[in-house]
Amino acid sequence: MHIAVVNGPNLNLLGVREPGRYGTMSLDAIEASVRARARELGAEISWLQSNHEGELVEAIQGLRARADGALINAAAYTHTSIAIRDAVRAAAVPFVEVHLTNIWGREEERRKSLLADLAVGVVAGFGARSYLLGLEGLVETLRGASGAPTSVEI
Ligand code: DQA
Repeated sequence: MHIAVVNGPNLNLLGVREPGRYGTMSLDAIEASVRARARELGAEISWLQSNHEGELVEAIQGLRARADGALINAAAYTHTSIAIRDAVRAAAVPFVEVHLTNIWGREEERRKSLLADLAVGVVAGFGARSYLLGLEGLVETLRGASGAPTSVEI
């Protein structure tokens, strides 16, 4: 099982960027923890971070051919990018939206996600653990073990 993890803008700064809000773990450390958990779950991970909307669009388009599922933290583009929404819909790959913070408990402009209604599920507010919880939920769903629908209509 191949799970692609897609990270949007400014997440490369995790660890130094507003640590009181986003935590002290770097994105590299989060990647290592996700890879370790994926190994235990028998899944393989590919990992991408980009600060560029077009690069994220191209990466998401490419998921169609090569991933069974995805974890997506589109960061600020979550709230603004119809292009990323369109790419996610076109890729038709089941995905879990993840956020370190609870976006619905934050400023008005962050309380809207352009991806959430397309997702298998959303995990937000658990810091770096959101990625692990999202991975576990996604893998269980793809294996049909969670009771959640296995085919996702998007
Ligand atoms: C974020 C939340 C977004 O609003 C913000 O722009 C980010 C990170 C999160 O993981 O909590 O960059 O996606």
